[in-house]
Amino acid sequence: MSLADDVSRLKRERNAVVLAHNYQLGEVQDVADYVGDSLGLSQQAAVTTADVIVFCGVHFMAETAAVLSPGKRVLIPDLDAGCSLADSITAEQLRGWKAEHPDAVVVSYVNTTAEVKAESDYCCTSANAVAVVQSIPEDREVLFLPDMFLGNHVRKLTGRKNMLVWWGECHVHAAVRPADILRARDEHPDAEFMVHPECGCTTPAMYYAATEDPSMHGAHILSTGGMLRHAKESAASEFVVATETGILHTLRKHNPAKTFHPVAESMVCRFMKMITLEKLVRSLEEDVFEVTVPEEIAARARLPIERMIAIG
Ligand code: 13P
Ligand code: SF4
Repeated sequence: MSLADDVSRLKRERNAVVLAHNYQLGEVQDVADYVGDSLGLSQQAAVTTADVIVFCGVHFMAETAAVLSPGKRVLIPDLDAGCSLADSITAEQLRGWKAEHPDAVVVSYVNTTAEVKAESDYCCTSANAVAVVQSIPEDREVLFLPDMFLGNHVRKLTGRKNMLVWWGECHVHAAVRPADILRARDEHPDAEFMVHPECGCTTPAMYYAATEDPSMHGAHILSTGGMLRHAKESAASEFVVATETGILHTLRKHNPAKTFHPVAESMVCRFMKMITLEKLVRSLEEDVFEVTVPEEIAARARLPIERMIAIG
């Protein structure tokens, strides 16, 4: 019996559902019941009828599932699977920021701890950040956190002047530079270019796009779910992709006739890659590791997450 067979058997025995992010190892994605971006995973966690949710992703994502499904057991196969972006702001820092701007509306990217979400008015993902900010009355100041590249991108797209952005970043995406893009695009001149808004090059990307620099010509700035949709619908047969390389598995699986090139092979999130098939089997077998959120925090974190899901 293979490890994949073990997962299928244990899922049935425990009435468990396996949710996996697009950055997971290919073998983990292949045994999951649902593979998606942060927004899609939250939506699935909110509606599942399973007793157990095994979250193949990083800790804040499992926390979001625990907040949305209080009656269910939420497991993560490795408790060390954290996120450098979520770690870039604490609840205490956010309380300090809010104290300086008492009338502001707080929009937190989903890559935050439940404690930070509990201090927020809205949650958003890269898929709906623009729609969430647009839904806030124009005269209200907005505090956007923690990703500065996504924040600057949203500020430019919404034209919002009264929006302050926290100086946080994801170490994987922040490391991408325009030079990486120039090289990849030079090597594949006919390819379409898809870039995640957390990338360190997003701000320069917007600048280059505005100044018509050819290196950014036709860049599609998309969430991981947006990339999957775009690759499927586009008439192009070749793509250069600027995000964590795990998504290449999903892109190639759903589009076997198309070719996908990473901007940089080094774009690997070591936290996402901590989840292996062996650890997933152990998680189901031994009922480890449970992720819980104290009800007092969960109750406050639920509203901003539900608002995010409602905006879609
Ligand atoms: P998505 O919401 O686009 O899936 O991104 C999540 C993430 O962690 C990006 O690094
Ligand atoms: Fe966090 Fe970056 Fe990894 Fe996404 S890629 S989970 S933002 S560390």
